[in-house]
Amino acid sequence: MLIGGLPSDEASNLDLIFADLKKASKMKKIGVIGSGTMGNGIAHVFAQNGYNVNLIDIKPEALERALATIAKNFDRQVAKGRVTEEEKQASLDRISTYVNIVDGVGDCDLVVEAATERMDLKMKIFKEIDDSSPEHCILASNTSSISITQLASVTKRPEKVIGMHFMNPVPVMKLVEIINGYSTSKEVTETIEKLSKDIGKIPAMANDYPGFIANRILMPMINEAIYTLFEGVGGVEEIDTVMKLGMAHPMGPLQLADFIGLDVCKAILEVLYDGFGNPKYAPCPLLVNMVNAGKLGVKSGEGFYSWTHGTKELVVSDSFSK
Ligand SMILES: NC(=O)c1ccc[n+]([C@@H]2O[C@H](COP(=O)([O-])OP(=O)(O)OC[C@H]3O[C@@H](n4cnc5c(N)ncnc54)[C@H](O)[C@@H]3O)[C@@H](O)[C@H]2O)c1
Repeated sequence: MLIGGLPSDEASNLDLIFADLKKASKMKKIGVIGSGTMGNGIAHVFAQNGYNVNLIDIKPEALERALATIAKNFDRQVAKGRVTEEEKQASLDRISTYVNIVDGVGDCDLVVEAATERMDLKMKIFKEIDDSSPEHCILASNTSSISITQLASVTKRPEKVIGMHFMNPVPVMKLVEIINGYSTSKEVTETIEKLSKDIGKIPAMANDYPGFIANRILMPMINEAIYTLFEGVGGVEEIDTVMKLGMAHPMGPLQLADFIGLDVCKAILEVLYDGFGNPKYAPCPLLVNMVNAGKLGVKSGEGFYSWTHGTKELVVSDSFSK
């Protein structure tokens, strides 16, 4: 027998799935995988908005660092009068830490993966979450550029896999770029859109093509700024000044590249280059050289600028000063 064009047993399966998704929209527990720069910010924002968070990292020291960073960032919010001391403490109490995925995702309604940007690693993690989390759990990735459809392909629930691309620093930046994989269901997209609004963010929808929206536009601009330096059209200060004062960007593209990490920029450009097969996305040879030399920007102490004295003052790196 057909119900609405579907065999009755398939229709009742769909009913069950939608009932599960409705449950998922009343999410209580969020798993966050990877407690680095992004993972600790994502855990912070969910905990601040009343969700219980299981923060998972393979490195115990990364979890310790993350808890210290979250507490420090809450202190900043308390000092600015945005959060009370009690709210800070209640939020911190909502975060539990785990060193393996199997223990951490068993009771989660949503898992946000924010581990290192490597396809092989993320595929392995998605398979593990799929095997260990409840059937209704939505699996999201914070990847900057890796295909959501490809991550979904290693799971038994591709309709519940989605991109949730937060921006750095997560507690401050309003945007969440939501990426629909090829098989992501409309209900899952709506659930994540609503959840993003619930935690005070503004969602923007994108489809799953290399770089999505954010990095498809940002990375070629950064690469072009590096070419402009490489070809001697302008110096570091001049390039960043033109974009700040001329285009009203809050920081120049070379400074931004140093903040993102030059290795990350190169990796994303390679995803664009491979994905579109178009030479316009090939990373500039200067960027490749800098990454090979270990000049990765803020995290290594030097990129286009020198960061050994902190991030407040802009000092052009000796390699580029006149
Ligand atoms: N840094 C940014 O500005 C930024 C912005 C948006 C999105 N992203 C994306 O967010 C993700 C994380 O980036 P990040 O900058 O926070 O990286 P990071 O290097 O600061 O942190 C990654 C963490 O993942 C952990 N990890 C590695 N393998 C793991 C595993 N199997 N299980 C659990 N944890 C594991 C590492 O120990 C590390 O603590 C990447 O996909 C990146 O592309 C980064």
